[in-house]
Amino acid sequence: NLAIDLGDTGIKIQPTMYGIFYEDINFAADGGLYAELIKNRSFEFPDPKMGWEEPNSVKYSLNKESGFSKITDYVEPKGGNKRFSHTVVQNDARYELFNTGFRGIGLKKDASYHLSIMLANATGVKKLKIALVDTVGTVLASSEIIPDNKDWKTYERVLVPNTIEEKAKLKITFEGNGSIDMDMLSLFPKDTWKGRRNGLRKDLVELLEGLNPGFLRFPGGCIVEGKTLDQRYQWHNTVGPVMERELLINRWNNEFAHKSAPDYYQTFGLGFFEYFQLAEDLGAQPVPILGCGMACQFNSGELVPLENLGPFVQEALDLIEFANGNVSTPWGKLRGEMGHPEAFNMKYLGIGNEQWGPEYFERYKIFAKIIGEKHPEIILVSTPGPFPDGDMFDYGWEQMRELNVALADEHYYKPPEWFLENANRYDSYDRNGPKVFAGEYAAHPNEVEDGTLENNWRAALSEAAFMTGLERNADLVHMTSYAPLMAHAEGWQWAPDLIWFNNLDSYGTVNYQVQKLYSNNAGTDLLKITEEGKALIGQDGLYASAVKDADTGELIIKIINTESHPQQLKLVTNNGTLDKTGAMFSLQSSDLQAVNSFEFPNMVSPKESTLTVITDMVEVAVEPYSVNVLKIKI
Ligand code: AHR
Repeated sequence: NLAIDLGDTGIKIQPTMYGIFYEDINFAADGGLYAELIKNRSFEFPDPKMGWEEPNSVKYSLNKESGFSKITDYVEPKGGNKRFSHTVVQNDARYELFNTGFRGIGLKKDASYHLSIMLANATGVKKLKIALVDTVGTVLASSEIIPDNKDWKTYERVLVPNTIEEKAKLKITFEGNGSIDMDMLSLFPKDTWKGRRNGLRKDLVELLEGLNPGFLRFPGGCIVEGKTLDQRYQWHNTVGPVMERELLINRWNNEFAHKSAPDYYQTFGLGFFEYFQLAEDLGAQPVPILGCGMACQFNSGELVPLENLGPFVQEALDLIEFANGNVSTPWGKLRGEMGHPEAFNMKYLGIGNEQWGPEYFERYKIFAKIIGEKHPEIILVSTPGPFPDGDMFDYGWEQMRELNVALADEHYYKPPEWFLENANRYDSYDRNGPKVFAGEYAAHPNEVEDGTLENNWRAALSEAAFMTGLERNADLVHMTSYAPLMAHAEGWQWAPDLIWFNNLDSYGTVNYQVQKLYSNNAGTDLLKITEEGKALIGQDGLYASAVKDADTGELIIKIINTESHPQQLKLVTNNGTLDKTGAMFSLQSSDLQAVNSFEFPNMVSPKESTLTVITDMVEVAVEPYSVNVLKIKI
């Protein structure tokens, strides 16, 4: 028998309880959420021809054949736009240049694709034929440009492929005898999220929207820190005109490269403005994380001397102005010019990611003092170190308590058993210290043969059980997010991940289904659910939590059965009455290895059933290995 007390506990479920953590890892931005289909569109990669093929050219020589493209520096570069391509066509021939996209270009049949290309100094080049071709060169869509200009001019075309193709290339054929300059060759699907021109992949944002997130933490993770300080993420390089944003090597370039990623760079077409906009679209609190003057301690661990920390703190102050400042301020003005004169109402700001030791806290202190004085309204997020084991982590908590930190960003990637054993993790946490932001967590089951860590049901079930513990401790745990969020099936560096995608399709994993069920049933007020006076934390393999949703007037109970047999449960309420019927939403699989996949995206997905309530009592049979959410009007 489970007893649910409908009386007020006085504990609120924070609107930020279930959120998402976005990091540009696994090609989550360029090649993923950011819908640009052309890789190295403006020739700024360190190898400026990466992503480009010129099968019939004679590179850098004028001797024979059809021509060549020479990457050339601007005499007066604008911001990050430093180079363009100078193409020479000779012998009255046709010179061909291909862009290979991000592991190919994904095209949908009869969909419209916006092409834009900047051209200048056309002399003798009479025509450019632009085509989307499949792997054997068959043309799927094409258009032409007759260039007639000396100064830079942007040409735009719409291409509509006549068939679906996952690995297309973009082919440009230059005709004539002469030369032409080219820059910023870009191709976007017309059907982006909200139809925006520099937009995001619609299917991926829809999956995020399905999570109904309370916050969006961005842009990482380790990429915030950089392997070296020079390679850290600097938000102000990611705003303003897209073409002028300064390229940066991704910290995950060739790292842990299960699928090697020597071509992983950040163009920042998806930059801080776009992240804030996405958070707003999703109705989520933006939670940016900034570097704290320390490069990743797993890499160089480079440190900015304390006396030189000023510019780093200024970056944080500038960001507050960019997000919230009036358009009469310099950064607020830029936000306005980018199309959002209203403030983004940022409330949270993270300082550092997974940093540890005295080096971190002496730096954090400086940030906290200055930001606290100038912007007491901003809630700072601090970090107790990388993983919840060992001295560093304990040291971190001690320091955070002393410093009166508001939110501590804990991370844990552990086996499923750890999650089951730690469902009581927060029961004993100090209530006088920082609130908890479980900012990165995921159950990592055993590796399968090819080194992949699977998103299987065993992992998801253990996360669901653990999450009842997050919810039971809602007075302390204010924010939580699974990590990482996204991965390209052919370009990932870390697994498991919540959402998988390729050039055409995407799906939510079984773990996604768990997150979705929780975040869409978060409720507003914590209730007490007990068995013989005790919280249900693994007795008979069962885990439970209960909340009330004051807006919908519902009682919401989560019950996880981690046993291999069904269990018959009697739930009895006191301090209130219930409606006669209710609904139960269940995720279940008898196979702990079950996964969702491109082929079977709904292998594990919610099933709805009806509950019959007798006055204050409801009986349910919970299936083996199941996650169940019961909803009954109070
Ligand atoms: O989520 C992947 C990585 O895990 C993050 O970049 C880092 O914060 C953590 O170590």
